[in-house]
Amino acid sequence: MGRLAGRTAVITGAARGIGAAIAARFAAEECSLVLSDIDEPTLAGTGARLAADGAQVVEVRSDVTDRADVEALFAAAESRFGAVDIVVNNAGVFANVRFEEMTDDQWDTMLRVNAGGVFAVSQTAIRRWLAQGWPGVLVNMASVSARVAFTDSAHYSASKAAVGALTRCIAAEFGPLGIRANAIAPGIIETEMTAGGLTDEVLSAAWTLRVPSRRFGTAEDVARLAVFLASPESDYINGEVITIDGGAASSWPKPSDRDRSPRA
Ligand SMILES: NC(=O)c1ccc[n+]([C@@H]2O[C@H](COP(=O)([O-])OP(=O)(O)OC[C@H]3O[C@@H](n4cnc5c(N)ncnc54)[C@H](O)[C@@H]3O)[C@@H](O)[C@H]2O)c1
Repeated sequence: MGRLAGRTAVITGAARGIGAAIAARFAAEECSLVLSDIDEPTLAGTGARLAADGAQVVEVRSDVTDRADVEALFAAAESRFGAVDIVVNNAGVFANVRFEEMTDDQWDTMLRVNAGGVFAVSQTAIRRWLAQGWPGVLVNMASVSARVAFTDSAHYSASKAAVGALTRCIAAEFGPLGIRANAIAPGIIETEMTAGGLTDEVLSAAWTLRVPSRRFGTAEDVARLAVFLASPESDYINGEVITIDGGAASSWPKPSDRDRSPRA
């Protein structure tokens, strides 16, 4: 039996990248899926591929910054599958902007999508869980940027630090009612979000040398952690922000002759 068998998950930003990988892994663990995104055509393709492989899946176009959309997302989820057990707050945006050039609009948009979206979706889910007496699990997508500085994206770091704080506060406030909330803090994961920054081979190799595991992460690496945090296997983990970055944020490796040795 799948590790998420009999459960229903709402996943935001599920059209592509990490969200789509989480959807695929959850489906493999027999979870019913409610996939949402603002990119409707890509979302439809992702949903169709999973359905063709036998997944129970419904796609709902929904913007995490729009309250009416978020309400409609949960209404659609409940009407198709009954109560929602798991919410993965994955939708997010990124931009490189020099601090001195950052506009109020760029700051507001980043905070509105990355932090405001997690607030709106989590609050909607929790209100429904409270009304239904049905405890659920939140898995929120933070970033290592919340704890280590990356230049040219201060607004992104601030938004992801807010996700960590929200996660801890939700866990403290609703843990007594059986609701869990944890966050994942990925390092550099190869998706369309990071593709633009990894095109330069020299820079890309330099980045890789900062990662003890000597590779960038994959969406599947993150998806496996999401399954664990969504499943009862992690029942006693609550309010944590778990880094998944090949060791990069915890180290400052110097170039090593080990890089010349073949690795197992
Ligand atoms: N890729 C990385 O290196 C990395 C590292 C740390 C954290 N993250 C976080 O992981 C999450 C997924 O990132 P990814 O790399 O798969 O990015 P991605 O850009 O490939 O996918 C993000 C998805 O979110 C959707 N989205 C954007 N705004 C939305 C909104 N307002 N409402 C609903 N959906 C919206 C997009 O349409 C897209 O499908 C994001 O929260 C991101 O910040 C990514």
